Amino acid sequence: CGITARVGSDDSLDPLLTSLQNLEYRGYDSAGIAIQNGTGIDINKREGQVSELQSELAAGDVDGPVGIGHTRWSTHGPPTDDNAHPHTDCHERVAAVHNGIIENYTELREGLQARGHEFTSDTDTEVIPHLVEERLAAGQDPESAFRDAVDQLEGSYAIALLVDGDPTVYATRNGSPLVIGDGQSANYLASDVPAFLEFTDRVVYLEDDDIAAITPEGYRITDVDGTPVSRPVETVDWDPEDAEKGSYDHYMLKEINEQPMALRQTLHGRIDGSDVVLEDFPPGSFEDVSNVQFVACGTSYHAGMYGERLLSDWGINADTFIASEYAAYPAPVDENTLVIGVTQSGETADTLEALQRARDRGARTLALTNVIGSTAARTCDDALFIRAGPEIGVAATKTFSSQVATLVLLGERLVRDVTGEPTEGHEQRLRALEALPENVESVIETTDAEAVSRRCLGDNGHFFIGRGSAFSVALEGALKFKEITYEHAEGFAAGELKHGPLALVTSETPVFAIGTGQHLNRLESNVREIQTRGGPVVAVGPRTASQLAQTADEFLPVPATHPDLVAALANVQLQLIAYHAANEMGRSIDKPRNLAKSVTVE
Ligand code: G6P
Repeated sequence: CGITARVGSDDSLDPLLTSLQNLEYRGYDSAGIAIQNGTGIDINKREGQVSELQSELAAGDVDGPVGIGHTRWSTHGPPTDDNAHPHTDCHERVAAVHNGIIENYTELREGLQARGHEFTSDTDTEVIPHLVEERLAAGQDPESAFRDAVDQLEGSYAIALLVDGDPTVYATRNGSPLVIGDGQSANYLASDVPAFLEFTDRVVYLEDDDIAAITPEGYRITDVDGTPVSRPVETVDWDPEDAEKGSYDHYMLKEINEQPMALRQTLHGRIDGSDVVLEDFPPGSFEDVSNVQFVACGTSYHAGMYGERLLSDWGINADTFIASEYAAYPAPVDENTLVIGVTQSGETADTLEALQRARDRGARTLALTNVIGSTAARTCDDALFIRAGPEIGVAATKTFSSQVATLVLLGERLVRDVTGEPTEGHEQRLRALEALPENVESVIETTDAEAVSRRCLGDNGHFFIGRGSAFSVALEGALKFKEITYEHAEGFAAGELKHGPLALVTSETPVFAIGTGQHLNRLESNVREIQTRGGPVVAVGPRTASQLAQTADEFLPVPATHPDLVAALANVQLQLIAYHAANEMGRSIDKPRNLAKSVTVE
């Protein structure tokens, strides 16, 4: 879900709707706003996307200087007009928007109902305005009423709240992000920076339990006891254009094309000849590490697996875990275990919980993330940023590439710290890493993926196979394909195909075989096994893999770089295959059905 607020002295409706649209990647099954109009609070909310709310509002004369907004991804109650935020008290004097889950809401709601409060939704959120209403009725001022109401809540939340007649937005967070935008003519609040980036680039990240009061002139932040606290003002150097679609039909295609630039940012200043320079991690930072565990979900899990394959190959003990599994069944750790949470958003609930479990059990934790100020970055012992810029398409693309590049750098640092020596072949690998942005550029400029995707759409499913780092890319290629085409797709370790999945291969199941340049003869045997059963094969591999190219039915080449980085290039071909197949099928590419960019529930 996404929260936004604008506090100004001019009209706030248009900027609020813009902010909501910028936040739709966080959820888009319902949307709503509450605006102070001078005589009361106007609430407009409905099931559906922000554009539908916008059309409805275009017909009316709703506007005012102070407002809050919300775009929802349902967790409590189905997406309906009633369940859409903002929620209000009995007299519409208080309006609140909320992300997260209030765990004790049943108990709070029963108490409020017993005291005469009537509820109109199934949500946990609705208890908040009622709790504030009670305290206002008892004569408290809005800020202390908000503070005392928040004190009653258990769970994880980010809240923004309006009280009629008070030109202030009150906000707090616990485990869910909120950031203030410090503007010139108005001030802002949102779950994430892209919401208001076109209005201001000066941001203040709130910490858990902060209570913020945002007014047209400025903002005050206090702790739970009411003591003023100071949070640094940071300037975000993202271009507002970065958070918009520009001339592309889809954010996904824009973000695929942005990969060379994203990778340049990722690598900037981090390679110095034969050395790796990681800002917060000088040589020796990891000398006590004896083993590494990656915890992550979705695409980030595949990036973690990629990192694990490389680290293992370089002699470091490494494993990858699906975060939701790890949260319930954590692996043994000790103080020499480094648990790396790979998470683009830094807000995925499963990953945060897995990291928490690791921390509780004494491991050292590191967040590998794209979002400075995210919960993962703040709660882990260390954070390393992938610097990919904002990613809006639900299907992750540029962040995967930047995660892999960052993991190669981190791996090099780890190996040097643990063994006292650089990795074998580090010179060639670092040069290949420097060349990665231009190699990705060359894949994008020369790809034949659109035509191949048209020729290779199966009726019975799509399989993706590879070894080592190419196995993680096979899984990622299949995930990308299924999430945006809605067609069946699965990834397998190439050698495992003959142990079961081969039974599924027919002339209607195209197989994408990914080669890194290593063990190519084994992959070629797998290709022949598939072809013998009538399956068409699209090989993706280094341009120099002539035997593979000849054996396969189609070949999508990538530059012949260091074998550790070939799979990252092959992944770009597979992103484009998925994109063009989904586009041809007219799918909702940026917002695939049933999926959200940031899954902040377990
Ligand atoms: C969601 C998204 C995926 C993403 C995963 C992990 O499921 O739809 O694209 O890979 O979350 O997100 P994170 O922000 O932790 O990398």
